[in-house]
Amino acid sequence: MQLSSTSTAATAGTPAEEIIPAQQPASGQHVLVDLKQVSKRFASGGGEFTALDNVDLHIGKYEFVALIGPSGCGKSTILRLIAGLETPSGGKLVMDGCDGPGEFIKNNRLGVAFQDHALLPWLSAWDNVALPCKITGHKVNEQRIAWLLNLMGLTGFEKSRPKQLSGGMRQRVAIARSLVLRPELLLLDEPFGALDAVTRRRLNIELQALWSAERLTTLLVTHSVEEAIFLADRVIVMSPRPGRVRMERRIPFQRPRQPEIMRSPQFHALSDELTLALDELEAGEDLC
Ligand SMILES: Nc1ncnc2c1ncn2[C@@H]1O[C@H](COP(=O)(O)OP(=O)(O)OP(=O)(O)O)[C@@H](O)[C@H]1O
Ligand SMILES: [Mg+2]
Repeated sequence: MQLSSTSTAATAGTPAEEIIPAQQPASGQHVLVDLKQVSKRFASGGGEFTALDNVDLHIGKYEFVALIGPSGCGKSTILRLIAGLETPSGGKLVMDGCDGPGEFIKNNRLGVAFQDHALLPWLSAWDNVALPCKITGHKVNEQRIAWLLNLMGLTGFEKSRPKQLSGGMRQRVAIARSLVLRPELLLLDEPFGALDAVTRRRLNIELQALWSAERLTTLLVTHSVEEAIFLADRVIVMSPRPGRVRMERRIPFQRPRQPEIMRSPQFHALSDELTLALDELEAGEDLC
Protein backbone atom coordinates (compact mmCIF):
# COMPACT_ATOMS: atom_id res chain seq x y z
CA MET A 1 0.00 0.00 0.00
CA GLN A 2 1.30 3.43 -0.87
CA LEU A 3 1.33 5.48 2.29
CA SER A 4 1.27 9.06 1.23
CA SER A 5 -0.86 12.04 2.02
CA THR A 6 -2.42 11.81 -1.39
CA SER A 7 -3.21 8.11 -1.05
CA THR A 8 -6.44 7.04 -2.64
CA ALA A 9 -6.45 3.71 -0.84
CA ALA A 10 -10.03 4.16 0.34
CA THR A 11 -12.35 1.74 -1.34
CA ALA A 12 -16.07 1.88 -2.04
CA GLY A 13 -17.91 2.63 1.17
CA THR A 14 -14.92 4.34 2.79
CA PRO A 15 -14.80 8.10 3.11
CA ALA A 16 -12.63 8.77 0.07
CA GLU A 17 -13.95 12.30 -0.12
CA GLU A 18 -12.32 13.01 3.25
CA ILE A 19 -8.82 12.46 1.94
CA ILE A 20 -7.23 15.87 1.91
CA PRO A 21 -3.96 17.46 0.85
CA ALA A 22 -0.95 17.00 3.08
CA GLN A 23 -0.99 18.12 6.71
CA GLN A 24 -3.23 21.15 6.35
CA PRO A 25 -5.86 22.43 8.74
CA ALA A 26 -9.11 23.46 7.09
CA SER A 27 -8.58 26.30 4.66
CA GLY A 28 -8.71 29.77 6.18
CA GLN A 29 -8.07 28.39 9.67
CA HIS A 30 -5.59 30.27 11.85
CA VAL A 31 -2.47 28.10 12.23
CA LEU A 32 -1.39 27.91 15.88
CA VAL A 33 1.48 25.42 15.59
CA ASP A 34 3.53 25.25 12.44
CA LEU A 35 6.39 22.79 12.04
CA LYS A 36 8.17 23.63 8.81
CA GLN A 37 10.54 20.99 7.53
CA VAL A 38 11.57 20.21 11.10
CA SER A 39 14.35 17.70 11.70
CA LYS A 40 15.68 16.43 14.98
CA ARG A 41 18.96 14.60 15.34
CA PHE A 42 20.31 13.09 18.54
CA ALA A 43 23.93 12.16 19.31
CA SER A 44 24.22 8.39 19.23
CA GLY A 45 27.30 6.19 19.75
CA GLY A 46 29.73 8.79 18.44
CA GLY A 47 27.46 9.53 15.46
CA GLU A 48 24.05 11.02 14.91
CA PHE A 49 20.59 9.52 14.88
CA THR A 50 17.85 11.22 12.90
CA ALA A 51 14.67 11.01 14.98
CA LEU A 52 12.65 13.39 12.78
CA ASP A 53 13.24 14.14 9.14
CA ASN A 54 11.66 17.17 7.42
CA VAL A 55 8.40 17.04 9.30
CA ASP A 56 5.72 19.46 8.13
CA LEU A 57 2.84 19.68 10.56
CA HIS A 58 0.34 22.49 10.86
CA ILE A 59 -2.22 22.62 13.63
CA GLY A 60 -5.09 25.07 13.32
CA LYS A 61 -6.49 27.03 16.23
CA TYR A 62 -9.17 24.96 18.01
CA GLU A 63 -8.18 21.88 16.07
CA PHE A 64 -7.80 18.45 17.65
CA VAL A 65 -5.03 16.53 15.95
CA ALA A 66 -4.03 12.97 16.83
CA LEU A 67 -0.58 11.56 16.06
CA ILE A 68 -0.23 7.82 15.64
CA GLY A 69 2.65 5.65 14.48
CA PRO A 70 4.93 2.77 15.47
CA SER A 71 7.07 3.04 18.57
CA GLY A 72 10.13 5.21 17.98
CA CYS A 73 8.73 7.20 15.05
CA GLY A 74 9.20 10.49 16.91
CA LYS A 75 5.72 11.29 18.26
CA SER A 76 6.95 12.27 21.71
CA THR A 77 9.86 14.15 20.16
CA ILE A 78 7.37 16.33 18.25
CA LEU A 79 5.51 17.08 21.49
CA ARG A 80 8.75 17.80 23.30
CA LEU A 81 9.78 20.24 20.56
CA ILE A 82 6.45 22.07 20.80
CA ALA A 83 6.76 22.14 24.60
CA GLY A 84 10.26 23.63 24.34
CA LEU A 85 11.94 20.60 25.92
CA GLU A 86 13.96 20.01 22.74
CA THR A 87 15.05 22.33 19.95
CA PRO A 88 14.87 21.49 16.24
CA SER A 89 18.14 20.51 14.54
CA GLY A 90 16.76 21.84 11.27
CA GLY A 91 13.69 23.62 9.97
CA LYS A 92 11.49 25.96 11.91
CA LEU A 93 8.84 25.82 14.60
CA VAL A 94 6.46 28.78 14.48
CA MET A 95 3.82 29.13 17.18
CA ASP A 96 1.07 31.67 16.63
CA GLY A 97 3.44 33.70 14.50
CA CYS A 98 6.35 33.61 16.99
CA ASP A 99 9.60 31.75 16.57
CA GLY A 100 9.54 28.73 18.91
CA PRO A 101 7.40 28.03 21.96
CA GLY A 102 8.93 30.68 24.27
CA GLU A 103 5.95 33.02 24.22
CA PHE A 104 3.53 30.15 24.87
CA ILE A 105 5.56 28.95 27.83
CA LYS A 106 6.01 32.42 29.29
CA ASN A 107 2.29 33.20 29.13
CA ASN A 108 1.05 29.78 30.28
CA ARG A 109 -0.63 29.14 26.95
CA LEU A 110 0.62 25.57 26.97
CA GLY A 111 -0.61 22.59 28.99
CA VAL A 112 1.30 19.31 28.86
CA ALA A 113 0.65 15.80 30.14
CA PHE A 114 3.41 13.46 29.08
CA GLN A 115 4.11 9.75 29.41
CA ASP A 116 6.33 10.30 32.44
CA HIS A 117 3.76 12.21 34.41
CA ALA A 118 6.36 13.70 36.79
CA LEU A 119 4.09 14.32 39.74
CA LEU A 120 5.83 15.49 42.87
CA PRO A 121 5.77 12.43 45.15
CA TRP A 122 5.52 14.39 48.39
CA LEU A 123 2.46 16.37 47.29
CA SER A 124 -1.15 15.20 47.35
CA ALA A 125 -3.17 14.86 44.13
CA TRP A 126 -4.83 18.20 44.94
CA ASP A 127 -1.51 19.97 45.56
CA ASN A 128 0.01 18.48 42.41
CA VAL A 129 -2.87 19.94 40.38
CA ALA A 130 -2.53 23.29 42.19
CA LEU A 131 1.23 23.40 41.61
CA PRO A 132 1.23 25.32 38.28
CA CYS A 133 -0.83 28.08 39.98
CA LYS A 134 1.69 28.36 42.80
CA ILE A 135 4.72 28.28 40.50
CA THR A 136 3.32 31.00 38.26
CA GLY A 137 1.90 33.12 41.08
CA HIS A 138 -1.72 32.60 40.01
CA LYS A 139 -4.49 32.45 42.58
CA VAL A 140 -5.37 28.83 43.31
CA ASN A 141 -8.84 28.34 41.87
CA GLU A 142 -10.21 25.72 44.26
CA GLN A 143 -13.45 25.32 42.37
CA ARG A 144 -11.62 24.57 39.15
CA ILE A 145 -9.30 22.06 40.83
CA ALA A 146 -12.27 20.27 42.39
CA TRP A 147 -14.04 20.27 39.02
CA LEU A 148 -10.99 18.91 37.17
CA LEU A 149 -10.37 16.19 39.75
CA ASN A 150 -14.03 15.21 39.53
CA LEU A 151 -13.88 15.21 35.74
CA MET A 152 -10.92 12.86 35.93
CA GLY A 153 -12.76 10.54 38.32
CA LEU A 154 -10.51 11.41 41.25
CA THR A 155 -13.00 12.79 43.74
CA GLY A 156 -12.18 11.20 47.08
CA PHE A 157 -8.48 10.91 46.24
CA GLU A 158 -7.60 14.59 46.65
CA LYS A 159 -5.37 13.92 49.65
CA SER A 160 -3.67 10.84 48.23
CA ARG A 161 0.01 10.99 47.36
CA PRO A 162 1.10 9.68 43.94
CA LYS A 163 2.45 6.42 45.38
CA GLN A 164 -1.01 5.72 46.85
CA LEU A 165 -2.60 6.04 43.39
CA SER A 166 -2.66 3.61 40.49
CA GLY A 167 -0.69 4.39 37.32
CA GLY A 168 -3.87 5.42 35.52
CA MET A 169 -4.93 7.68 38.39
CA ARG A 170 -1.54 9.36 38.35
CA GLN A 171 -1.94 9.98 34.64
CA ARG A 172 -5.29 11.58 35.29
CA VAL A 173 -3.81 13.83 37.97
CA ALA A 174 -1.26 14.92 35.38
CA ILE A 175 -4.04 15.70 32.88
CA ALA A 176 -5.93 17.72 35.50
CA ARG A 177 -2.72 19.57 36.28
CA SER A 178 -2.13 20.33 32.59
CA LEU A 179 -5.55 22.02 32.45
CA VAL A 180 -5.53 24.02 35.65
CA LEU A 181 -4.26 27.26 34.10
CA ARG A 182 -6.72 27.07 31.19
CA PRO A 183 -4.13 26.60 28.45
CA GLU A 184 -4.92 27.33 24.81
CA LEU A 185 -2.78 24.48 23.56
CA LEU A 186 -2.86 21.06 25.15
CA LEU A 187 -0.20 18.43 24.45
CA LEU A 188 -1.14 14.93 25.54
CA ASP A 189 1.27 12.03 25.21
CA GLU A 190 -0.58 8.71 25.56
CA PRO A 191 -2.62 10.08 28.45
CA PHE A 192 -4.94 7.11 28.68
CA GLY A 193 -2.38 4.37 28.00
CA ALA A 194 -2.65 2.64 31.36
CA LEU A 195 -6.42 2.80 31.73
CA ASP A 196 -9.02 0.08 31.51
CA ALA A 197 -11.34 0.24 28.51
CA VAL A 198 -14.38 1.55 30.40
CA THR A 199 -12.55 4.39 32.14
CA ARG A 200 -10.78 5.22 28.91
CA ARG A 201 -14.06 5.52 27.03
CA ARG A 202 -15.55 7.70 29.75
CA LEU A 203 -12.51 9.99 29.74
CA ASN A 204 -12.60 10.21 25.95
CA ILE A 205 -16.14 11.54 26.21
CA GLU A 206 -15.19 13.92 29.03
CA LEU A 207 -12.14 15.15 27.16
CA GLN A 208 -14.25 15.87 24.13
CA ALA A 209 -16.73 17.91 26.21
CA LEU A 210 -13.92 19.78 27.88
CA TRP A 211 -12.20 20.40 24.56
CA SER A 212 -15.35 22.03 23.18
CA ALA A 213 -16.15 23.98 26.36
CA GLU A 214 -12.66 25.45 26.74
CA ARG A 215 -11.93 25.93 23.04
CA LEU A 216 -8.65 24.05 23.32
CA THR A 217 -6.25 23.29 20.54
CA THR A 218 -5.01 19.77 21.18
CA LEU A 219 -2.25 17.52 19.94
CA LEU A 220 -2.76 13.99 21.21
CA VAL A 221 -0.34 11.09 20.85
CA THR A 222 -2.05 7.75 21.15
CA HIS A 223 -1.49 4.12 20.25
CA SER A 224 -5.22 3.62 19.86
CA VAL A 225 -6.56 4.15 16.35
CA GLU A 226 -10.13 4.15 17.71
CA GLU A 227 -9.30 6.82 20.27
CA ALA A 228 -7.66 8.95 17.58
CA ILE A 229 -10.68 8.69 15.27
CA PHE A 230 -13.18 9.27 18.05
CA LEU A 231 -11.46 12.40 19.35
CA ALA A 232 -9.64 14.08 16.50
CA ASP A 233 -10.43 16.36 13.59
CA ARG A 234 -7.40 14.96 11.82
CA VAL A 235 -5.32 11.84 12.38
CA ILE A 236 -1.71 11.96 11.28
CA VAL A 237 0.26 8.76 10.75
CA MET A 238 4.03 8.74 11.18
CA SER A 239 6.66 6.23 10.14
CA PRO A 240 9.98 5.51 11.89
CA ARG A 241 13.68 5.48 10.97
CA PRO A 242 13.65 8.40 10.41
CA GLY A 243 10.43 9.79 11.79
CA ARG A 244 8.28 11.21 9.02
CA VAL A 245 4.69 12.20 8.45
CA ARG A 246 3.29 9.61 6.05
CA MET A 247 -0.42 10.02 5.82
CA GLU A 248 -3.34 11.86 7.28
CA ARG A 249 -7.08 11.59 7.38
CA ARG A 250 -9.66 14.22 8.18
CA ILE A 251 -12.30 12.76 10.48
CA PRO A 252 -15.75 13.68 9.24
CA PHE A 253 -17.94 13.04 12.28
CA GLN A 254 -20.02 15.89 13.72
CA ARG A 255 -19.54 17.00 17.31
CA PRO A 256 -20.43 16.27 20.00
CA ARG A 257 -19.61 12.69 19.12
CA GLN A 258 -21.40 9.87 20.81
CA PRO A 259 -19.83 6.45 21.40
CA GLU A 260 -22.38 5.04 18.90
CA ILE A 261 -20.31 6.45 16.02
CA MET A 262 -17.76 3.76 16.82
CA ARG A 263 -20.24 1.22 15.49
CA SER A 264 -20.83 3.04 12.20
CA PRO A 265 -19.52 1.64 8.89
CA GLN A 266 -17.66 4.89 8.26
CA PHE A 267 -15.84 4.60 11.60
CA HIS A 268 -14.94 0.98 10.85
CA ALA A 269 -13.68 1.90 7.38
CA LEU A 270 -11.42 4.63 8.76
CA SER A 271 -10.24 2.38 11.55
CA ASP A 272 -9.44 -0.45 9.11
CA GLU A 273 -7.58 1.86 6.79
CA LEU A 274 -5.44 3.42 9.54
CA THR A 275 -4.81 0.08 11.25
CA LEU A 276 -3.67 -1.43 7.97
CA ALA A 277 -1.36 1.52 7.39
CA LEU A 278 0.12 1.09 10.88
CA ASP A 279 0.54 -2.66 10.39
CA GLU A 280 2.43 -2.04 7.20
CA LEU A 281 4.64 0.55 8.82
CA GLU A 282 5.29 -1.78 11.78
CA ALA A 283 6.30 -4.48 9.30
CA GLY A 284 8.75 -2.01 7.77
CA GLU A 285 6.99 -1.88 4.40
CA ASP A 286 7.00 1.09 2.13
CA LEU A 287 9.85 2.87 3.88
CA CYS A 288 11.57 5.32 1.61
N1 LIG B 1 17.13 12.41 24.15
C1 LIG B 1 17.30 11.46 23.22
N2 LIG B 1 18.54 11.02 22.91
C2 LIG B 1 18.74 10.09 21.96
N3 LIG B 1 17.75 9.53 21.22
C3 LIG B 1 16.50 9.93 21.51
C4 LIG B 1 16.20 10.90 22.52
N4 LIG B 1 14.86 11.11 22.54
C5 LIG B 1 14.35 10.26 21.62
N5 LIG B 1 15.32 9.58 21.00
C6 LIG B 1 15.14 8.60 19.93
O1 LIG B 1 14.33 9.21 18.94
C7 LIG B 1 13.40 8.28 18.41
C8 LIG B 1 12.00 8.81 18.57
O2 LIG B 1 11.68 8.79 19.94
P1 LIG B 1 10.24 9.18 20.50
O3 LIG B 1 10.29 9.03 21.97
O4 LIG B 1 9.87 10.49 19.95
O5 LIG B 1 9.34 8.05 19.82
P2 LIG B 1 7.78 7.75 20.01
O6 LIG B 1 7.17 7.76 18.65
O7 LIG B 1 7.22 8.66 21.03
O8 LIG B 1 7.80 6.25 20.56
P3 LIG B 1 6.79 5.53 21.60
O9 LIG B 1 5.53 5.26 20.84
O10 LIG B 1 7.51 4.27 21.97
O11 LIG B 1 6.57 6.43 22.79
C9 LIG B 1 13.66 6.95 19.13
O12 LIG B 1 14.46 6.14 18.33
C10 LIG B 1 14.37 7.37 20.38
O13 LIG B 1 15.27 6.38 20.81
MG1 LIG C 1 6.42 8.40 22.93
